[in-house]
Amino acid sequence: MALVDRDPLMRVIWTDSVTGCNGYLVVHSLVSGLATGGTRMRAGCTLSEVEALARGMARKTAVFDLPVGGAKGGIDCDPKDPAARGVLSRFVQAMRPWLDAHWVTAEDLGVPQHLIDEVFAEVGLHQSYHAAIRRAPDAERTLRRVRAGLNAPVPGGLLLGDVVGGYGVAQSCLGVVHARGWAQEETTVAVQGVGTMGGGTAYYLHEAGLKVVALADAAGTLFHPDGLDVPALLETRDRFGEIDRAQVPPDVQRLPREAVLSAEVDVLIPAAVSFTIKAPQVPEVAAKVIIEAANTPITPDAEEMLATRGIPVIPDFVANAGAVAWAWWLLLGRVDADPVLSFQVLREEMLAKIPPLLAAWDTEGHTPRTAALLLAERRNEENRAAEAAGRGLLSIP
Ligand SMILES: NC(=O)c1ccc[n+]([C@@H]2O[C@H](COP(=O)([O-])OP(=O)(O)OC[C@H]3O[C@@H](n4cnc5c(N)ncnc54)[C@H](O)[C@@H]3O)[C@@H](O)[C@H]2O)c1
Repeated sequence: MALVDRDPLMRVIWTDSVTGCNGYLVVHSLVSGLATGGTRMRAGCTLSEVEALARGMARKTAVFDLPVGGAKGGIDCDPKDPAARGVLSRFVQAMRPWLDAHWVTAEDLGVPQHLIDEVFAEVGLHQSYHAAIRRAPDAERTLRRVRAGLNAPVPGGLLLGDVVGGYGVAQSCLGVVHARGWAQEETTVAVQGVGTMGGGTAYYLHEAGLKVVALADAAGTLFHPDGLDVPALLETRDRFGEIDRAQVPPDVQRLPREAVLSAEVDVLIPAAVSFTIKAPQVPEVAAKVIIEAANTPITPDAEEMLATRGIPVIPDFVANAGAVAWAWWLLLGRVDADPVLSFQVLREEMLAKIPPLLAAWDTEGHTPRTAALLLAERRNEENRAAEAAGRGLLSIP
């Protein structure tokens, strides 16, 4: 299967002439001559990590039927290093031919959207979605629409572009709740990570009336059996996504960081870092369903063991793909700066996608991942056939 076994179309390894840091671009596939995927920066970032993430992006675009392939950028540098901004700027310069014509990138771990946009503006590429925007008949107008969408304010004091990924994960959780016939107010959830993804997920699940009983950040797990006051706790976060312990109410239990994984809940949502659930953690998991908000939070052997224990995992390339799907709907003109429309489209898409994955698990014995991969492969083949027949897939207004 192309989205499982195939090698990427292209791997680029770059070395910064000033610091010696390495950077990578992996294009897994091109559709409409384009590939999409964020640029991350972290000390220890590797080519194989970027390659796996690029493949993941190709799966996300296929599942959401977006007319674009998958790619990813990664730079092996600590984003807090004073040299980091210069490294990012030189990486963007070096990748310019791809960024100009074929690679649509965005924020990712260690690289906020405002920073990548600043660097793009400096090198004359306007915005990180440049390669797509330049295909529009009136690129200036499209650029204005995209900027308005990314910066539209939403209730809670944040921007649409920052919360939409977490909103999508929350909707995938509601898809599970509906498919299982659970009452929303009685459903309990544990979320690991309260940054962009985890924070948004917890906020919208709390808003929907679910009981978020456990929240973890890098400093530990906070637990309350009746449900936490999520908005109040999120309000105290610092810029690294950590809750201020001085402002945590006294009736909230403070547990070790890993305790979130063993919370007795209906749904566990790892939304922090990769490979947080490995084989040794599997026996401790007490949730009925896991939803992957982070990229690859569960190792393949751990997922097999979870399946043996009867715990289905909604895979990352479905659950956390709201962010990329929404960005492309914005480019394609399906949504705009109105958060109500964006939330409605994303809700409908997620609520439609999740129940068939659980039905495949319940009745055919497929894991949700296998069922979603089969869907992605089918879409991928359809796109290839359309392109081979000369039917253009991309139209950016
Ligand atoms: N931001 C996006 O739009 C987006 C989209 C799709 C997928 N993702 C994926 O979601 C994950 C999280 O990304 P983010 O943008 O929310 O990151 P972030 O930096 O905003 O937040 C990370 C959070 O995880 C916490 N954390 C770190 N290590 C932890 C640990 N060991 N235990 C518990 N908590 C820990 C931090 O304290 C913080 O609250 C990543 O895997 C990322 O690739 C992000």
